[in-house]
Amino acid sequence: MPDPFVSRSLDEIRFWSRIMKEHSFFLKLGFRCEDTQLINEANHFYATFEAIENRSLGFTVDSDPAVIRKFNEEVHSAASHIWAFKRKILGLILRCKLPGGTNFPLLVDHVSREANYFRNRLEELNLGRLDPLPDAIINENVFFLRIMADHAKFIGHLLDPSERQLVEQARNFSHDFDTLLYQAIDLSSMRPQSQTKPLLSQQLDENKVSVKSLRDFKKTARDLIEECRIKSIIHPLLADHVFREAERFLYIIDAFEASLNMNKQIV
Ligand SMILES: [Fe+2]
Ligand SMILES: [Fe+2]
Repeated sequence: MPDPFVSRSLDEIRFWSRIMKEHSFFLKLGFRCEDTQLINEANHFYATFEAIENRSLGFTVDSDPAVIRKFNEEVHSAASHIWAFKRKILGLILRCKLPGGTNFPLLVDHVSREANYFRNRLEELNLGRLDPLPDAIINENVFFLRIMADHAKFIGHLLDPSERQLVEQARNFSHDFDTLLYQAIDLSSMRPQSQTKPLLSQQLDENKVSVKSLRDFKKTARDLIEECRIKSIIHPLLADHVFREAERFLYIIDAFEASLNMNKQIV
C-alpha cells in the first residue's frame, strides 16, 4: 500500500519545482543586461530546481518515506532561498534600483507567494500537520483566487494595448476574481461558524465555474501566442505556466469536492 505522505510530497514537488524553475527564467527575462549578478543568481536557481524536478521524477510512490522526508527538507531549503531572492528583487524594484527592468512588482510579489506556499506545503507534510478539511478549503481558495486575479492582471498588462478585446476580457476576469477573493476572505473571517458543508460546497461550485472559464481563456491565449496570432510581450512559456496553475487549482477544487462528499463530520 503506497504511503500517502510519499505520493503527496512527490506530487507537490513535481508540480512546484517546475514552476520555481520557470520563475527563475521569467525573472531573468525582466532583468537589464548589466544586472549580471542577478542573472547569475537566476541561472543558479534554474539549475537547482531543474535538478530537484529530475530527482523527483526518479522516485516512485513506493519510495522509502524516510528518504522522501529528507528530500522534502532539501527542497524546503531551496524554496526558502528562492523566496528570499524574490523578496530581494522586490526590494530593489520598489527602491527604484533597477530602472528599466521589466519585472512588475506585483509579479515578483506573486512568485514569492508561490514559493512561500510551496515551502509551507513541504513543512506541513514533514510535520504531519495538514490543515483540517474545512480550514484547508478556505485557505487554499483564498490563496489561489488571489493568484488567479493576479494572472488576469498580468495578462491584461502584457498584451499589446491594441488587442483591445482581449485586454477587456482580461480586465473582466481580474474584476471577477477580485470579487471571488473578497467573498472567500469574508467566509474566512466568519470562521468557524461559516464552515458548514453547504457553504463550503457552494464556494467550491462557484469558484470552479469561474476558474474553468479563466483556464479556457488562458488556453486560448497560450495557443494564439504560440501561433503568433496576437500582439503581446507574453513569453509562450509564461502563457503555459499560468494555464497550468489554473489547472492545478481545478485539481485541488475537485479533490476538496470529493473529500467534502465523503466527510461526515462537517454539517
Ligand atoms: Fe507561477
Ligand atoms: Fe502564478
